[in-house]
Amino acid sequence: METTYIMIKPDGVQRGLVGEIIGRFEQKGLKLVGLKSMVPSEEIAAKHYEVHKERPFFPGLMKFITSGPVVCMAWSGVEAIKVARTLIGPTNGRDAAPGTIRGDFGMDIGYNMIHGSDAAETAEFELGLWFPEGTMNWNYETQNWVYEG
Ligand code: RTP
Ligand code: MG
Repeated sequence: METTYIMIKPDGVQRGLVGEIIGRFEQKGLKLVGLKSMVPSEEIAAKHYEVHKERPFFPGLMKFITSGPVVCMAWSGVEAIKVARTLIGPTNGRDAAPGTIRGDFGMDIGYNMIHGSDAAETAEFELGLWFPEGTMNWNYETQNWVYEG
């Protein structure tokens, strides 16, 4: 079991895609272990995107991500990090296949609606950053019908 950090970005919220996106993760069989919304501070946004701080798009990315509410989520499941990235699709919506979130709803590399952790170490870092209070431990009964045995 893994837990991944998923975040609907301000464009996803502005476009009314919150329910649609959460529904896709639920339907897949992932378990929701954290959910909240906030307008990110400069501080948290800069920490989250620290790896990109030297990139030319960084200032624009900061402005965008702090521009309005985001939806912060933690989802658990077997290989949840990879599964979530597959649901999300490649960074640029124009390259993303139909059926993926970015492929179905996105046309841009910057406005790509959603973030998903890309590895176990980044998931741990991002979950600690956005959910310092921790995530929920609950018994997901449906799981017995999602995984065999
Ligand atoms: P994310 O981290 O948001 O899940 O997206 P990702 O792994 O697919 O993409 P990544 O390379 O980590 O880039 C982080 C975010 O920076 C913005 N970006 N803009 N204008 C550009 O050339 C550019 N490149 C990246 C995107 O919002 C991307 O999701
Ligand atoms: Mg990334």
